[in-house]
Amino acid sequence: MAIQTVMVIGAGQMGAGIAQVCAQAGFQVKLNDLQEEALAKGKAGIEKRLTRAVEKGRIGEEERTKVLSNLAVSTTLADAHDCDLVIEAIVENMDVKKKVFTELDTHAPKHAILASNTSSLPITDIASVTNRADQVIGMHFMNPVPVMKLVEIIRGLQTSDETYEAIQDMTKQLDKTPVEVRDFPGFVSNRVLMPMINEAIYTVYEGVAEPEAVDEVMKLGMNHPMGPLTLADFIGLDTCLYIMEVLHEGFGDSKYRPCPLLRQYVQAGWLGKKSGRGFYQYE
Ligand code: CAA
Ligand code: NAD
Repeated sequence: MAIQTVMVIGAGQMGAGIAQVCAQAGFQVKLNDLQEEALAKGKAGIEKRLTRAVEKGRIGEEERTKVLSNLAVSTTLADAHDCDLVIEAIVENMDVKKKVFTELDTHAPKHAILASNTSSLPITDIASVTNRADQVIGMHFMNPVPVMKLVEIIRGLQTSDETYEAIQDMTKQLDKTPVEVRDFPGFVSNRVLMPMINEAIYTVYEGVAEPEAVDEVMKLGMNHPMGPLTLADFIGLDTCLYIMEVLHEGFGDSKYRPCPLLRQYVQAGWLGKKSGRGFYQYE
């Protein structure tokens, strides 16, 4: 089965990026969100990035127009009725994702693959609410999607070889590199990355150093492109907390306990760059 039409659910920073790379690779894309405002913002971001690509001579004006014509917006999951693939990129919360997958399973055609861009949640558990567990898979893009080469592909316990191969091929068509991992909390990427970010937050919480100093140490000392606190703000502190909670609960090991300062920032609505304040102030 060839994938031609793709629905991306969630027009936030990840969903908009995923929709963009799919449209650029020639797929017909429906970008879905509950909120009109999020759709408008997501689409405006895509237009802005394509305009920049034209200005930099990476693509022509014609291609920009073509890519935008591959992109439609949607506010109802019923629009999945003619999609070959659905990629979910909504909030990192199991209950909310399960609701969406339950509904999607009723709208998407029988042959369609249902993928999640989850950062850490078990694919096998998400698949359990559908009647097609063999066609459910993790397709974990990295932020910012148009720039980062990796897609971590997570096989749930029941994911079929056919589904895996279709998603591996699709990832290559997006000019990304697939890496296969098994279904354990945080997969590989966030099992390794997020404890480092959490530990960086502990160094601030315990007064070892100011955020700027922590970031400077990791940028200049370890050649990371962004310090861990800048990266946490970039990812979203709510997402970082959800991921730490998944690791903590999934492994039952205190080494994954979320730093209380992270929890407090999220309670205050300091979610990082997207809310205007996190470890740093924006705007
Ligand atoms: N969206 C799209 N493109 C972006 C972008 C964004 N948010 N931010 C930067 N870019 C593009 C720029 O347009 C630029 O491209 P052009 O020069 O062709 O226009 C290119 O990236 C480089 O940007 P800059 O020169 O402005 O900045 P930079 O050299 O510092 O690179 C960065 C920016 C690529 C984001 C770099 O800082 C970086 O690699 N940071 C670390 C990113 C990272 O670790 N991502 C993984 C997060 S974890 C995750 O995603 C998994 C999870 O589940 C949480
Ligand atoms: P975000 O907060 O920027 O966007 C989420 C979007 O989903 C919002 O626009 C919201 O309106 C929409 N939404 C929520 N519930 C919905 C529903 N039921 N139907 C349709 N739309 C709905 O979040 P994000 O940073 O883009 O993260 C999305 C997912 O991607 C999460 O699972 C996250 O863990 C994962 N992820 C995030 C990053 C990152 O760096 N931020 C990286 C990789 C994966």
